[in-house]
Amino acid sequence: MLKGKTIILGVSGGIAVYKSVELLRLLTKAGADVHVVMTASAREFVTPLTFQTLSGNPVHTELFNLYQEREIGHISLADRANLFVLAPATANLIGKVAQGLADDLLTTTLMATKAPVLVVPAMNTNMYENLFYRHNEQKLRDAGYHLLDPVHGDLACGWAGQGKMPDPQDIIIAVENVLTTKDLQGCRILVSAGPTREEIDPVRYLTNHSSGRMGYAIAAAAHRRGAQVTLVAGPCQLPPPAGVETISVVSAQQMYDAMIGCYDAADVVIKAAAVADYRPVKRRKEKMKKKNASACLDLEKTTDILAELGRCKKKQILIGFAAETEKLVEHATKKLISKNLDMIVANDVLAPGAGFDVDTNIVHFLHRDGRAEQLELMSKTAVAEQLLDRVCSAWQKNNRPDIKQP
Ligand code: PMT
Repeated sequence: MLKGKTIILGVSGGIAVYKSVELLRLLTKAGADVHVVMTASAREFVTPLTFQTLSGNPVHTELFNLYQEREIGHISLADRANLFVLAPATANLIGKVAQGLADDLLTTTLMATKAPVLVVPAMNTNMYENLFYRHNEQKLRDAGYHLLDPVHGDLACGWAGQGKMPDPQDIIIAVENVLTTKDLQGCRILVSAGPTREEIDPVRYLTNHSSGRMGYAIAAAAHRRGAQVTLVAGPCQLPPPAGVETISVVSAQQMYDAMIGCYDAADVVIKAAAVADYRPVKRRKEKMKKKNASACLDLEKTTDILAELGRCKKKQILIGFAAETEKLVEHATKKLISKNLDMIVANDVLAPGAGFDVDTNIVHFLHRDGRAEQLELMSKTAVAEQLLDRVCSAWQKNNRPDIKQP
């Protein structure tokens, strides 16, 4: 998403400047062309050379510097930018921007840009709560600037409270959010992810290899694109995606209850979870003892949640996944039809780089009208984006009866 994007990173003077170095590294790693503008105070904390080396571009520091002006020109830089990020943004910088002051290179370049601006404040907690500061911050919000709130924690000044600059990874998520077109604004999407656990006794359970990455990637991407997202997640080790309502469940029955409870309010349902097909008939209260050389478990089928959603479908766009190890398209097509789906995402979980517990996937999109698309190996985030492109056009058709169907 950040590949080829021109980003200006405006750095003002605070101890959090060291985190901006890591932010720059992550931005350039993601393919962005980053131009750093530093204030004089920022240069007291880290030298321009560090930013220059990591960005591969000259660092801009002086408003009246003929050499720099001839080379780049702050106005042309401001024109070319896809995004302006102020990180860290000090109380002083935010105060100047709120008053419309442009007395150094950073504030001048900022005033000259029409690009979206992401402001990442970092300061002492008392400064952050100061009335004048709050007033200035509100002015920026009212002007349409995007603000990423500082987090709570121990501050360099010895205080503890809100004021710390968020982790660079979280700033990257905010950057992607700002740069994403909100084409799913108004769409309510229900996603399921991860495995379920079916308890045998207090120490053992039946489960599978799902890590939740596929479903979490869909939930995060849908949120980025402006959807209102609810994620029903089985036991996973992943942090809940920011801005997504996450309901944690353990068993197939709990996942069923949560999905049914949210179903009526959903426009789109995407079921990426790997639900256990069977559970023990009886959960033992005590740990099973090793008495014999072999043991048998009596199992019963869990409810097929997706089939049930398909049965009582009204206007929802219903999408399932199929985890197959043979006859991928044939088996997935059967599921598409028998579960009354609009689309199924089929993955061969034995193929290298696909399926369970990896960052990538190889999928086929099989549509209800018989269309089939085969995608290359790509990250699960890229699969999520591709899937949501299809979701978006289907949802827009459903929601805009004024557009004549061909
Ligand atoms: O979580 P990751 O590690 O990222 O791995 C991703 C994934 C491999 C889990 C994902 O890409 C995937 O394939 N998910 C579906 C797994 C699965 O259960 O497939 P299935 O073919 O057994 O089931 C078909 C569909 O019915 C699925 O949408 C499933 O959620 C649903 N189902 C199945 C059984 C059941 N009792 N209730 C259901 O709703």
